[in-house]
Amino acid sequence: MTSHPESQPGPAATVDAYLSGLLAPADEALAAALADSEAAGLPSISVSATNGKLLHLIARIQGARRILEIGTLGGYSTIWLARALPADGTLITLEYSPHHAEVARANIARAGLDKVVEVRVGAALDSLPLLAEEGGTFDLVFIDADKVNNPNYLDWAVRLTRPGSVIVVDNVVRSGRVVDPADTDPNVTGTRAALQLLADHPQLDATAIQTVGAKGYDGFALAYVQG
Ligand code: SAH
Ligand code: DHB
Ligand code: MG
Repeated sequence: MTSHPESQPGPAATVDAYLSGLLAPADEALAAALADSEAAGLPSISVSATNGKLLHLIARIQGARRILEIGTLGGYSTIWLARALPADGTLITLEYSPHHAEVARANIARAGLDKVVEVRVGAALDSLPLLAEEGGTFDLVFIDADKVNNPNYLDWAVRLTRPGSVIVVDNVVRSGRVVDPADTDPNVTGTRAALQLLADHPQLDATAIQTVGAKGYDGFALAYVQG
């Protein structure tokens, strides 16, 4: 990955630790989810605590009752999102790796969210058409899986939402790689194509925000689904 000052430990990471300590402190379930994910050999690529809290707040502000997540990993972002749901709310999270899904299910159950969260194993592009057949729309979609498919995931997200829904796409900056024309990594070109789709799609009104902190220099896109 391109080296960048903000992607190194430094003031931004120290400030993030300060902010998360104040505003997004880890409780037992969140800390255990990260510890058990690491112990199980999962990569350390879950959202940061402050970003998890942002997802939680977006879901609360949205009044979300049905949430779709694409890319579960160990369920860390899942827990932040699911905690924003009312008792009768639901979160469906799609994960390719059976191992990741197994770790996530244990983390989600320890957080007391197994009645609210359903982890579906398989390639998201196989699960999404089934979700569409089942019917119902989602109030919030969090896209955070293989970035090469982000344009496809955005298409599905629009089909599975309604006017007024919100879509969040993680990791759209990747240490600035998104603007390096020499970088033709499919994950980077997928991200570029997703941002172009956000710009062009008549049903989407979007922005993207750069972030620094515990997880380096990255960013997310936020889209509002309009009629
Ligand atoms: N949202 C998580 C991080 C997800 S990391 C968090 O912030 O806590 C990305 C996850 O997407 C990984 O677990 C990876 O196995 C999964 N993934 C990769 N390709 C996928 C695909 N085609 N379908 C579904 N999940 C996929
Ligand atoms: C990667 C994936 C993520 O979802 C993330 O937040 C950070 C890194 C990755 O595949 O490297
Ligand atoms: Mg991510």
